[in-house]
Amino acid sequence: MTTAPSMDDMLGAVDVVDPYPLWQSLLDGGPLVAPDGSFALLSSHEHCDAVLRSPGFSSDRRNSTRWQAVLAAMSEADRARLERQRSFLFLDPPDHTRLRRLVSKAFTPRTVERLVPLVEDLTTGMLDRAEDPLEVVGELAYPLPVTVISRMLGVPEQDHVRFAGWSEVLAKSLDDTLSAADAEEVRLRRRAVDDFRAYFTELCAQRRTNPQDDLLTALVEAEDDGDRLSTDELLSTAMLLLIAGHETTVNLIANGTLALLRDEQLRTQVAADPASAAGLVEEVLRLDPPVQMTMRIPLADVEVPGGRVHAGGTVVLLLAAAGRDPAQHADPLRLDVSRTTAHLALSAGPHYCLGAPLARLEARIALTALARRLVDPELVEPSYRPNRVLRGPERLVLAAGALRRN
Ligand code: HEM
Repeated sequence: MTTAPSMDDMLGAVDVVDPYPLWQSLLDGGPLVAPDGSFALLSSHEHCDAVLRSPGFSSDRRNSTRWQAVLAAMSEADRARLERQRSFLFLDPPDHTRLRRLVSKAFTPRTVERLVPLVEDLTTGMLDRAEDPLEVVGELAYPLPVTVISRMLGVPEQDHVRFAGWSEVLAKSLDDTLSAADAEEVRLRRRAVDDFRAYFTELCAQRRTNPQDDLLTALVEAEDDGDRLSTDELLSTAMLLLIAGHETTVNLIANGTLALLRDEQLRTQVAADPASAAGLVEEVLRLDPPVQMTMRIPLADVEVPGGRVHAGGTVVLLLAAAGRDPAQHADPLRLDVSRTTAHLALSAGPHYCLGAPLARLEARIALTALARRLVDPELVEPSYRPNRVLRGPERLVLAAGALRRN
């Protein structure tokens, strides 16, 4: 007798360098639902979109049977600590709605558009100072988003480096959707969270006595209103903005760079035409998304395409597969900067990426600058991060002389 594969069997096989053959086979094979109703893997655009928009599915891991087992194995103190750290990415309405609303003003397309001069200056400065040979991740893709979100929050320049370290450790926790972390990883994470919270507690105290025109001051003022935001919520929100807005945008810029390296005509087009640059960003999101998958938890037993999942089960939504669904995107493997079909790389429904306008703006500016400056670039050393949820290259080294000096 053969036993049905578990979710860990299925997703444990993900190749971080090239997960696409696996996503394609799941897309071709249709939805996959465990016979015992414990999990489902959905890959089509239509199915993923429907779950993301449905109030019957939760983002709160406390509703997950799998997660409850993880919690049960923890000490009381660790459980309390996790409870304090919960960000609104992992909450349902009404708390989700209340917390998201507090920061959403800072991320509207109009507010974000005001950052254009800053992002352009930072990009130019980073490329002017870059070493030859150029390593795109370390010199541009990594520092650009962390500098922008730090400025928005109001973190002093000299501390950005510490931010990047914490963010990298914490981003790995997203991979826990798939498997438990080892003890050393858990220890590192715990330290990153403690350091992060201590750092922000101090910074918030400074803002309280000396308010500034930044996001942290806005959050502190909301906290001072009492019932709108608790101290734990304030710290979790600051941490969410840092993590959600950092690793993901790094990967978008790096994955976009790879697309530019592969196609000289695309470089010429993007260098000359802002609409093509914006189109390239959408196509990279669709074809090589920084967030490969997300998950939801059914609040009651539910029929999904392909079978039945019980309340507390895991529904994995393969956003990266959905981007290649021929039912949604004609000729899906072709990169077409004029394509207008909607993709799910930034999610859909109530948890739709809050930072989408900022991510798009940063990537558009960074990729335009690279398209204008790269001369016969040749990739000599790509390597990928060992993360199945947040996909992107760790290093992208180009052959010497690839960057035109302005
Ligand atoms: C290319 C870059 C980015 C990608 C691919 C991305 C992707 C996503 C996705 C897929 C989600 C939803 C996850 C789910 O539904 O389970 C999300 C949520 C979120 N993102 Fe982004 N993101 C990016 C950049 C940013 C930036 C720059 C920020 C802010 C600085 C940001 C802040 C957030 C926040 C706060 C949420 C939670 C929204 C909610 O739960 O209501 N993201 N992002």
